[in-house]
Amino acid sequence: MIDLTERVKSIEYAIRDVVVYAKKLEKAGKKIIYLNIGDPCKYDFDTPQHIKEAYCKAIKNGYNWYGDSKGLPELREAIAEKEKRLNNVDVDPENIVITSGISEAISMFIAAVVDKGDEVLVPGPTYPPYIAYTKFFGGKPVSYRCIEEEGWQPDIEDIRDKINERTKILVIINPNNPTGALYSEKTIKEILDIAAEHELIVVSDEIYDQIVYEKGHVNTAKVAREIPVVVFNGFSKVYLATGWRLGYMYFYDPEGKLGHIREGVEKQARIRLSANTPAQVAAVTALKGPQDHIKEMVEKLKERRDYAWKRLNEIDNISCVKPEAAFYAFPKVNLENKWKDDKEFVLDLLKNTGVLVVFGSGFDPIYGKNHFRLVFLPPLEILEEAFNKLEEYISSK
Ligand SMILES: Cc1ncc(COP(=O)(O)O)c(C=O)c1O
Repeated sequence: MIDLTERVKSIEYAIRDVVVYAKKLEKAGKKIIYLNIGDPCKYDFDTPQHIKEAYCKAIKNGYNWYGDSKGLPELREAIAEKEKRLNNVDVDPENIVITSGISEAISMFIAAVVDKGDEVLVPGPTYPPYIAYTKFFGGKPVSYRCIEEEGWQPDIEDIRDKINERTKILVIINPNNPTGALYSEKTIKEILDIAAEHELIVVSDEIYDQIVYEKGHVNTAKVAREIPVVVFNGFSKVYLATGWRLGYMYFYDPEGKLGHIREGVEKQARIRLSANTPAQVAAVTALKGPQDHIKEMVEKLKERRDYAWKRLNEIDNISCVKPEAAFYAFPKVNLENKWKDDKEFVLDLLKNTGVLVVFGSGFDPIYGKNHFRLVFLPPLEILEEAFNKLEEYISSK
């Protein structure tokens, strides 16, 4: 038998891996409440009508060919306009690459920068593909601590301590998945300064940039001055188009230090031909057309965030920092001697109640342990049912 590669053996994706257990139970007749996946379109959020129509129209009008590998010029221009309008950042459309979701941007970027043994600093806890792709390309993910007691803000000293001569990339996820944290301008500037001092490339994943509750989001490039930053963003969350698989990265590079890396990314873009063409045409409409759905979505989510946060903190042995953005909560659970670890807790909860959440150690073995992540995307009545079950289950143990 031919062996599976070590590369593939090394990767996992807890968010979807837990679904395998849930599907088995569902097949046996158990009702499952899915709180595991960050897909608003699976709940009562829908892609705005005018964006859907733009997609259909693009297909009918014949936009069914392979596009430019870097992305359609009109979409890259629309993204540059959006960055100027929203963040007052000047981006040359030539420095934008359209990808099949941020997921592909993560893979292409890490492939371009990380050689065997190179290190990538990721937040602890993090969105798992940053760990998976780093390992996949032979690198070493190193997590820096985010401080739960301080609203999961990055620990600047810990970042500094973990840098060595093999460190290449410093990843910021702001707003953060899985914690729902929103970083202050001061924190972002401190991270940028450390990166500049050690000549690291800052990657700033801002996919939840417009899903914020009390405070506004600070774009990393906006405050970077001369420090180069690669920003990742996309259409999955803010434009409610997860299944379209469309994202982008742009190189904010005022001194032209990252040209060779951008070329490395573009080379990879060429070998996979192009991103989805009709989706790109519709994405221009998404960026240039009415934006009203964002406010409506955020209002709906805020009510659900408030409810989820209140209910979680009322349950014995659970405490939760208030998420300031995105649609995730990352509560801590006191496992006592009842469960071996957070994975056992999550699987036990699933078996007993049908409520599916993701174990925290899937987001980081150290900084995520004794936690779990849930989405507060469902309507209040479903959240109520899920929290009732969670509460009953914990008090029965
Ligand atoms: C922080 C973060 N980045 C990227 C992604 C994936 O985005 P895309 O759908 O554009 O691949 C997600 C999805 O949950 C995410 O939470």
